[in-house]
Amino acid sequence: MNIQEAKIEIEKLTNELNEHNYNYYVLDHPTISDYEYDQMMNKLIEIEKEFPELMQSDSPTQRVGGVALESFNQVTHTVPMLSLDNSYNQGDLLDFDGRTRKALDEEVEYVVEPKIDGLSVTLSYENGIFVKGATRGDGYIGENITQNLKTIKTIPLRLSENVNVEVRGEVYISREKFEELNKRQEENEQPLFANPRNVAAGSLRQLDSKITAQRNLDIFVFNIQTIDGKTFDTHIDGFEYLKKLGFKTSNYNVCNSMKEVIELCDEWSEKRATLSYEIDGLVVKVNDLNQREILGTKSKSPRWAIAYKFPAEQKETLLKDIEVQVGRTGALTPTAIFEPVRVAGSVISRATLHNEDYIQEKDIRIGDYVIIQKAGDVIPAVVKVVLDKRNEDVKPFNMPEHCPICGEETVRLEGEAATRCVNSACPAQLRRSIIHFVARNAMNIDGLGESIVTLLLDNGLISDIADLYYLKKEEVLSLERMGEKSANNLLNSIEKSKGNDLSRVVFGLGIKLVGARAGVLLADVFKDMDTLMNASFEDITVIPEIGDKMAQSLVAFFKEERNLEIIEKFKSTGVNMKSLKVEDDSIEKKFEGMTFVITGTLSKYKRTDAKDIVEKLGGKVSGSVSKKTHYVLAGEEAGSKLTKAQELGVPVISEEEFEEMVK
Ligand code: IVH
Repeated sequence: MNIQEAKIEIEKLTNELNEHNYNYYVLDHPTISDYEYDQMMNKLIEIEKEFPELMQSDSPTQRVGGVALESFNQVTHTVPMLSLDNSYNQGDLLDFDGRTRKALDEEVEYVVEPKIDGLSVTLSYENGIFVKGATRGDGYIGENITQNLKTIKTIPLRLSENVNVEVRGEVYISREKFEELNKRQEENEQPLFANPRNVAAGSLRQLDSKITAQRNLDIFVFNIQTIDGKTFDTHIDGFEYLKKLGFKTSNYNVCNSMKEVIELCDEWSEKRATLSYEIDGLVVKVNDLNQREILGTKSKSPRWAIAYKFPAEQKETLLKDIEVQVGRTGALTPTAIFEPVRVAGSVISRATLHNEDYIQEKDIRIGDYVIIQKAGDVIPAVVKVVLDKRNEDVKPFNMPEHCPICGEETVRLEGEAATRCVNSACPAQLRRSIIHFVARNAMNIDGLGESIVTLLLDNGLISDIADLYYLKKEEVLSLERMGEKSANNLLNSIEKSKGNDLSRVVFGLGIKLVGARAGVLLADVFKDMDTLMNASFEDITVIPEIGDKMAQSLVAFFKEERNLEIIEKFKSTGVNMKSLKVEDDSIEKKFEGMTFVITGTLSKYKRTDAKDIVEKLGGKVSGSVSKKTHYVLAGEEAGSKLTKAQELGVPVISEEEFEEMVK
């Protein structure tokens, strides 16, 4: 075969394979046998191997994945990838309908589509060839995951027309493939995926597209983001065109009234369980594209669409046991252990029961049948006990009088919901306190996950957080499954963390009630650890955001001998004990003593940027308007805060006026 012949053959095979791929995966209607398909594919692979320079970017051979990447490049979206406002009941939908019709002053037709529970992506085509695919990211900038998307068989690599178009869709995994994948994971002793959505997200963020190729992902395309040289009157015209181009699109219904939409919502909440993929609701969209134009968008979501989220799915299961866990502050948390059951796409086998009162109020007993649901479709919770099914063997639950880990007595203080183990040397508390110390928002020590913390403790290599800085290489190497490279990485990240800002150390100490934000405030005000340690209750409560309880907790913490020892150990090993924030004296603090409230949608800045500017100039930004507010910076769509400012006579400034003030 010479190069000319190869070129012709490659073109022919590519076209045929792409077509058969479409018939098989999108239409679910193959016209040749798997054997014939494989034969053609093998032939193409052979020719491409011989003439690699002829390999086309839309070659079906790329579906199996390619060379692993070092990292993903960033992609700035041509059209921002907006999100949707949520609605949960008829009332919310009727409100949406009311707002929409009022803004348009005419009748509205709605398109209703299933809301696929997966990951949103864009696909860009130039002259009909798939050239780039990206994740949503923050809506403005995503990651280039083209290689991974090419492995999804329902994404056409070449369209039926030579158009320049960018589309948006949702990548997902079917229930069946999800079950199969988890079975494989189990057989290979790998961790199971909690739900299909995690599979979609995790698989698309693989640097090695060969792994993505094994995950059997799928896509529903639901929107044209941009297109050259074509316009449509309605959303469904666009939809039909997407189908014609070769995309797999979602099902949809057109409704002439919100009443019809509501009926559909009820229908679909029943029907969802019978679908071959997970959906978490429906999306209701205005069909007419002119009307959409008039309605416009808010900063994060369009005014012409709303998501309807199904009521949390509930399931009945057996409560087999209640285990008690001991947290960082010694609080005992009862955890329900269930007969595993699938709820809203995840297999649930545990849920927190919070505290003693929660269990008592719901009268939950071990051996009961309970109704569980995923609150906000994320955290599983017990809704109620099925009393009809209760038998005599059920066992009431009492909080243990002794800590299940160290055996010390437990106490429940007046006014507190939590029962606590008061032994500050309790190994469970120690374990959790170390996990907290190394966490990303605290000292951010990479490579120190829960299992290594447990190993370090079990092997007696550490007995408090400061001991981490005294670990020797041979000690780390002695741990199970720890190689030279991981040991070096771990010790390097521990070393690196010594240079962290004081705020991270303060938060990392795990002082009761002191969160990450308080860590920053305390570091800003007191500047170094010694000053903070010697601060009185009054010194601390001067900080507006810090209340009496937190101040008490801080003073008590720095009185304890054990804690002082830990801080001494930090100091001698060189952990930074100072605030690293540099005060920039060159900036005039023209907003010193002033409080701003920022509301509405700003067009020139993100709200956080405006806040940074105010703070840099010495001012403060508050969340609510009061008589003490100096200025309200109001953007588009400013609501109740603007009204309040007007009522109180607080000066309201526009973005332009703000810019003038800042100059
Ligand atoms: S439309 C500007 N349609 O739901 C409108 N979104 O909660 C953009 N989703 O980020 C969204 N199925 O990832 C739309 N048929 C559908 C959808 C859908 C799933 C996802 C999408 C979006 C999220 C919003």
